[in-house]
Amino acid sequence: MMGTKDAATVLCSLLLLLSLSCEYSQAAESDYLQAQNTALLEVDASWKVARKIPQTLFGLFFEEINHAGAGGIWAELVSNREIYSIGFEAGGQNTPSNIDPWSIIGDESSIYVTTERASRFSKNIIALRMEVLCDHCPGGSVGIYNPGFWGMNIEEGKAYNLVMHIRSLEHVEMTASLTCYDGSQNIASTSIVHDGVQEWLKIELQLVAQGTCRTSRLELTTSKRGVIWFDQVSLMPSGTYKGHGFRKELVHMLLDLRPQFLRFPGGCFVEGNQTKNAFRWRESIGPWEERPGHYGDVWKYWTDDGLGYYEFLQLAEDLGAAPIWVFNAGISHTDAVDTSVIAPFVRDALDSIEFARGSAKSTWGSVRASMGHPERFPLKYVTVGNEDCDKINYKGNYLKFYNAIREAYPDIQIISNCDGSSRPLDHPADLYDFHVYTNPNDLFLSKDKFRRTSRSGPKVFVSEYAVNVDAGNGNLLASLAESAFLIGLEENSDVVQMASYASLFANDNDRNWNPDAIVFNSWQQYGTPSYWIQTIFRESSGAVIHPVRLSSSYSGSLAASAITWQDNEHTFLRVKIVNIGSNTLNLTIDVAGLQAGVDRKRSAITVLTSNNPSDENSFSDPNKVVPVKKDLPNAAEEMQVSLVPHSLTSFDLALDQYGKLVADM
Ligand code: AHR
Repeated sequence: MMGTKDAATVLCSLLLLLSLSCEYSQAAESDYLQAQNTALLEVDASWKVARKIPQTLFGLFFEEINHAGAGGIWAELVSNREIYSIGFEAGGQNTPSNIDPWSIIGDESSIYVTTERASRFSKNIIALRMEVLCDHCPGGSVGIYNPGFWGMNIEEGKAYNLVMHIRSLEHVEMTASLTCYDGSQNIASTSIVHDGVQEWLKIELQLVAQGTCRTSRLELTTSKRGVIWFDQVSLMPSGTYKGHGFRKELVHMLLDLRPQFLRFPGGCFVEGNQTKNAFRWRESIGPWEERPGHYGDVWKYWTDDGLGYYEFLQLAEDLGAAPIWVFNAGISHTDAVDTSVIAPFVRDALDSIEFARGSAKSTWGSVRASMGHPERFPLKYVTVGNEDCDKINYKGNYLKFYNAIREAYPDIQIISNCDGSSRPLDHPADLYDFHVYTNPNDLFLSKDKFRRTSRSGPKVFVSEYAVNVDAGNGNLLASLAESAFLIGLEENSDVVQMASYASLFANDNDRNWNPDAIVFNSWQQYGTPSYWIQTIFRESSGAVIHPVRLSSSYSGSLAASAITWQDNEHTFLRVKIVNIGSNTLNLTIDVAGLQAGVDRKRSAITVLTSNNPSDENSFSDPNKVVPVKKDLPNAAEEMQVSLVPHSLTSFDLALDQYGKLVADM
């Protein structure tokens, strides 16, 4: 390939041939390079060629993976609150069982702790029996403790609600305390004194923290010889989002994405490695003490299903997002229910829909009402299985689910697992799932993927996308490739109706799936660049898209789109451009057909970039790669701007009229 210097020399030679004086110089080379490092972006903002983007375009996919829910957005602090063996799937409900991560305070001579089938809850029959063997116990008292999910974040001045069930044949004198991780510093404590607990008694009390410790534990101790049984121990911060049990800071990060939908609860989590370990909505509703919980055998951890089907619907409502319920299609990673006997699973799916949107007097709607939500949840989308298209029995099972749901709920949009992007589906569906995990280059090129997709069949739901190769722990380069892909989805949003990044959350102590949008531990959280780019796309849902034309010798590393969007008061023309290459480019933006003037004072530029494409955010440097917003005083229909290497740049030209045109379109 001809280098730029060679090209300049050839140019000079040609000029020499024309007898013009041409002296090769550094200055000429620089001028030449400058002339080449350009890009022209033409935007046709006239209303007649504009198209409305579906209101649903960008949303969230929540999966119980990486302790996203248990030990994550579900604020329960006690891990394994059912005092039930993790890994119970191997040993069933046999006793004794592993009480991990519960442990004892004291030693073998002073305390004996085991499990017994003694619970008051029929679905959770294992309770913990603690026998105190000492009269003068070591350290004054002995007992049990729970360290939470890698430490409980207990903060000074905050209140924590402790609920537990106890039983004893004798008078009980014990203490519930929150201590720093090794028990050395007591930050909250209260005594529990009771006669007459021969029958199970529910204890509810509040602990108010006198100090802060990010790695606290809950201790239940006594100095009195005797036996106490414990069951269903829960410790919840009092300040959860709207009192609904969700960790506030994490919900706020989701709200900042203004998600239009929430797909839940997985993923492979929905399937299970074996069908018997799949998520079961019916076992995840009702009083938390009566939920059996289950071992998620794909991502290999126990969840008490405190974050159950009802809570997912509640979370969607709290986020202002449309719920998208993914239910098991009678198929796991290793086994499948035959279509001839899938009927109970179909019944189960219909019941789940009734639970969400049946009247408060219906069989399952009344259960929802009894949980505190008499109003119907607006469930309008369901997905039959996850990544099951090529698995045995899928097509047969799918049709059974499809026909039954279509008949009972004609308005529900049914989503198939089969990819119809390259050839038509051989079964009816309203939308189909499309998942893509790949390297940066491939995802960048996939921006054009849906140009060739048929416009006549079902619509596309890109329910999982991410760069997961050469992405580090979520780096700038990955997010830029994703940005280009999202620009492609905007462009093709006549057929692509929805898109969500995967995976959403990772507890830093269990990063089983990497990268993720939001990383957290018990007390901190940050967004990866993949999170932050989504904040730059959030206004696209329901906006209006305009045709653009990009001309540059670097167009292979550029992607651009233009939308008109509105907030409550104002209208903006937003031009986004990704420069995934390493060159600084002089970009000319030329907007034609604009029916309004540009208000420079309110216009802004937002840039997401960093020194190195492999740069990432972290707990110690959470804002290394984040969007930076500045005024754009030279905003105009034609403007020259500099496009930095490895960047996503968003120009918001504030328009001085347009009223509610976007909404009306
Ligand atoms: O997002 C992680 C996993 O990737 C999902 O569980 C599954 O659907 C996909 O394979």
